[in-house]
Amino acid sequence: MDLYTALRTTFSCRSWTDDPVDDETLYRVLEQARFAPNGGNRQGQHVIVLKDKDKRRQLVPLVREGTDIYMAQVAAGEAPWNSIVPTTVDEAAIRADDGPVTFPGVNEMVDAPVVLIITLDLSVAASFDKELDRIGVISGGSIYPFVWSILLAARGEGLAGVPTTYLAEKEPEVQKLLGIPEHHAVAALVPLGVPVKQLTKLRRNPVSSFATIDTFDGPVFDPAIEG
Ligand SMILES: Cc1cc2nc3c(=O)[nH]c(=O)nc-3n(C[C@H](O)[C@H](O)[C@H](O)COP(=O)(O)O)c2cc1C
Repeated sequence: MDLYTALRTTFSCRSWTDDPVDDETLYRVLEQARFAPNGGNRQGQHVIVLKDKDKRRQLVPLVREGTDIYMAQVAAGEAPWNSIVPTTVDEAAIRADDGPVTFPGVNEMVDAPVVLIITLDLSVAASFDKELDRIGVISGGSIYPFVWSILLAARGEGLAGVPTTYLAEKEPEVQKLLGIPEHHAVAALVPLGVPVKQLTKLRRNPVSSFATIDTFDGPVFDPAIEG
């Protein structure tokens, strides 16, 4: 598969066939993904290959509050979990609830052929924005290229998955369940397997919607427009 095809067709897969994924295939995926870039080449990633079915199941209720808040915010027309615009949703009431998890794909993901928990060692990640008065962004750059490389390599092996981050909201509980040190951020849970369906057309905005020349509000960067 050529690189551009892989970049344009690596979709978020949340349902898999029963085909198993052997350890050798998964190892090959991680073997490619380890070449992902990361701040200062400190390589703070750790991957837990979560095979224990009981531990997998215990992860499901941990995302109930966060995903219910997410869905309520979407229903209220908000950008869910954003750190800038205050929410109008009654988060405390949602947290006090204790219904089942209804967010799409949550129950399926823990039954995927492969479940990876990916953490980042914050004691080595270069977080150049750590003193800024806003939410941290830069440290994620030392782990999500690795996560994306796992998904691209998996695509090359005929597999698919999805980067999920909703577990992070209950990081202390996840750390306790899986013996993760406190200074390791729970960056993602990535399920993998053979996709029931391979999507090939992803919905994304055109380059002209986000690229400008010289300043943020400068002219749209598009060689097809005469300047
Ligand atoms: C940083 C990041 C966090 C994400 N977190 C979640 C998540 O918690 N749960 C989930 O189901 N999908 C999650 N996704 C998947 C996105 O929903 C998905 O990439 C997006 O909707 C585009 O889907 P598509 O590639 O199939 O078009 C996440 C993706 C990224 C890159």
